Amino acid sequence: MRTEPADSASVLVDPLAGRRILVGISGSIAAVKLPLVVSALAQRGAEVRCVLTSSAAALVSPVALASLSRHPCHLDADQWSHHAPRPLHVELAEWAELVLVAPLSATSLGRWVHGLADTLLASILLATEAPVLAAAATNTAMWASPAVRRNWELLQGFERVLPLGPAAGLLACDRRGDGRMAEPVQLLLALESLQLWGWQRDWAGLRLLVTAGPTREPLDPVRCLTNPSTGRMGVLLAQAARLRGAEVTLVHGPLALDPQLLAGLRCEPVETAAQMEQALLRLQPEADAIAMAAAVADHRRQQPLAHKLSKEALEAELTSGWQPVPDLLAGLVARRPAGQRILGFAAQSGEVLAEARAKWARKGCDLLFANPIDQADAGFGVDTNHGWLLGGVGGEQRLQPGSKLAIAQQLLTALRP
Ligand code: CTP
Repeated sequence: MRTEPADSASVLVDPLAGRRILVGISGSIAAVKLPLVVSALAQRGAEVRCVLTSSAAALVSPVALASLSRHPCHLDADQWSHHAPRPLHVELAEWAELVLVAPLSATSLGRWVHGLADTLLASILLATEAPVLAAAATNTAMWASPAVRRNWELLQGFERVLPLGPAAGLLACDRRGDGRMAEPVQLLLALESLQLWGWQRDWAGLRLLVTAGPTREPLDPVRCLTNPSTGRMGVLLAQAARLRGAEVTLVHGPLALDPQLLAGLRCEPVETAAQMEQALLRLQPEADAIAMAAAVADHRRQQPLAHKLSKEALEAELTSGWQPVPDLLAGLVARRPAGQRILGFAAQSGEVLAEARAKWARKGCDLLFANPIDQADAGFGVDTNHGWLLGGVGGEQRLQPGSKLAIAQQLLTALRP
């Protein structure tokens, strides 16, 4: 019997809830992270089955995976049985709606791209017609070896496969370099993207500039003007675009997010609107499209104070010494080179659509996505969103409640040059 997910309201719009996901684990020490992924998938309401190669079974417990997935865990020895009317690899390959292979070791990669079916996992990878997310992990020198390079290149050409190359960092063999498997949070994000969008890289060859998060305008050494934006919408937009093949630069204010969500992005952290404006001036010319998701503060102090104000002095200060922040989005629109597409965002309370129409006309960007910030399932600090997209095909489009990644995918489709 499956347990009920903790938060059934958010599961209603969770793209992974109810999906049949096969998790294939091969022999790399990164396998020890997979129980966390399997547990997270089960908690999100996915149906999970695990398959381990014999090397993986020496690194991570099949018992733990069976328990976390609420289902028997499959090993090579299970592939052929006189109790089963159909081969297990065919059953599992046809059962799966999505496949995650993580970690994908050099050996399992080699078997796969050369069509060898001598393990249960290798047979499933050849037999399945489901989309596959493949997250490689190897030692640095192995990753650089001509054989692995060539095999990885071959995998790039496979239909239905979303390959996630390893990141650089400290490896279990004590080397620093390429080889670390994408972190669990990245695997979950990429699986969700695979479910929502698929493996197609329609943004390949395009450069996207995204802003995210709040800006923070200092008043004195202990106080500032800012807002509750966490940066989640912009960061997910950037990641979705990266998975769809875009080269993404993210200019972001102070974020309130798991730093692992930034992995793989070229990031330019800033604090103030002035710093964000400088970054945009520098980066705009090389972008094919821009998504201005940052919640830029509306006012700033002409000159931040060097000394902390007393409480009494604060009241007088708040009514003087502030100036409006220039509209960065309007600046982007005014300076844009031919062909550059620009998406603005609008944070609205009360009536969304009428305000959004006026803001879109005022800002002059190609597209404007307006979302409510006074509802529990949209806006700041939540995983879901909904609203209106102005300027896309068909003019005004209602984007129904969905995960922020689902909204991001729709915005990317509309924004693509
Ligand atoms: N924006 C900007 N520069 C500012 C303020 C906002 O570039 N100084 C951008 C935001 O990044 C967003 C869009 O303008 O893409 C709309 O931001 P929003 O806060 O909704 O609107 P405002 O222009 O600030 O207007 P208001 O606060 O009156 O709704």
